[in-house]
Amino acid sequence: MKIFVSLIVQFILALCVSGVALAGPPAVFGTGIVGSVHDFSRASWNPEALSYKGEICNVCHAPHDGGRKTYKAGLLWNRQLSSSTYIMYDKSWSPGITHAQDSQPTGNSKLCLSCHDGSLAIDAFGSYPGTGWRMWDENTNKVIPRFKDAAGSLDMHGTHPISVTYAAPGGGTAKGFKPATNTWPGGLTIADTLQNGKVQCSTCHDVHDTPGEVVPGTQLLRAGLTAKQGGASALCLTCHDK
Ligand code: HEC
Ligand code: HEC
Ligand code: HEC
Ligand code: HEC
Repeated sequence: MKIFVSLIVQFILALCVSGVALAGPPAVFGTGIVGSVHDFSRASWNPEALSYKGEICNVCHAPHDGGRKTYKAGLLWNRQLSSSTYIMYDKSWSPGITHAQDSQPTGNSKLCLSCHDGSLAIDAFGSYPGTGWRMWDENTNKVIPRFKDAAGSLDMHGTHPISVTYAAPGGGTAKGFKPATNTWPGGLTIADTLQNGKVQCSTCHDVHDTPGEVVPGTQLLRAGLTAKQGGASALCLTCHDK
């Protein structure tokens, strides 16, 4: 027994010395949804994670609507949607915005914001009412950077414009932009990643961390930001013709 205990102590010490974090490995990006930042099947807040039997997709999508009506957001959505009002990055803030834009976030961006705006319990999905664990309380650094200002407003003035049309007003390639047929490093065109022609969160980020579509080492981005990630500001230069 004594030997057994000392072996366990030695094992734990070895783990610490070798730098293995007991809390779980750091996130690696571009390797698929299993084990990614959006794999909550083992999250401590997931009521289904008991004995590590939780599902991955179910936290966001359900194959059948349980009479809960969240499916109306599209994509078999299994979570409540935020009813927050956002201060948009729009032409009233920056006259340089000339493309048609929705007055509030729409489409896929609403799905991301059902967690990332910090207003809803993250453990509220399916029929679980949630216990109030919100990203803003517990995980401030993963809320959209500088999103909530001191007054508590959901302020998008510090976030790239979303729910905005890619093409020029009236269609075609806009001045200062690459054609929508231009491709991301993974092979999809810009147009493939727009939703109804609009730039949403999912245009720059791939929530599922799909191998080949997310550049490893980036925060779920479809193109890199640094030379090491495939080109300085490659993400921005995929769209902006600068
Ligand atoms: C953290 C939430 C989340 C999880 C977990 C998640 N998804 Fe999604 N999924 C989304 C969002 C948001 C979108 C819309 C944005 C987009 O299309 O990239 C989406 C879109 C989709 C789409 C339609 C567009 C496409 O990419 O083909 C499919 C299919 C899909 N998800 C399947 C799955 C499956 C299967 C799983 C589990 C292995 C899963 N998702 C896990 C959030 C999630
Ligand atoms: C998917 C294409 C796309 C990507 C990628 C992209 N942008 Fe944009 N960007 C747009 C669109 C569309 C607009 C809105 C243009 C308009 O309404 O005139 C915009 C607007 C902007 C604006 C606001 C301009 C103004 O007049 O207020 C800035 C600044 C900007 N982008 C910088 C960047 C930077 C920096 C990156 C990389 C981190 C980036 N963009 C990545 C498409 C993109
Ligand atoms: C179920 C709630 C949920 C939904 C829906 C969701 N996310 Fe997340 N996301 C999280 C959480 C929680 C983290 C932090 C995980 C961690 O730190 O381990 C995260 C992390 C991230 C990160 C940062 C990765 C890092 O660690 O640096 C990005 C980028 C991201 N999400 C983008 C998105 C986008 C874009 C969408 C929609 C297409 C989306 N998320 C939908 C909960 C969600
Ligand atoms: C124009 C491209 C673009 C769009 C659109 C975009 N992001 Fe990002 N996002 C980035 C880049 C680039 C980074 C990493 C650099 C940074 O933090 O500014 C990032 C970082 C993040 C992070 C990580 C923050 C952290 O502190 O680690 C989250 C979470 C995130 N985005 C969520 C979202 C959500 C939700 C939306 C939609 C409301 C969105 N993004 C729209 C380009 C974009």
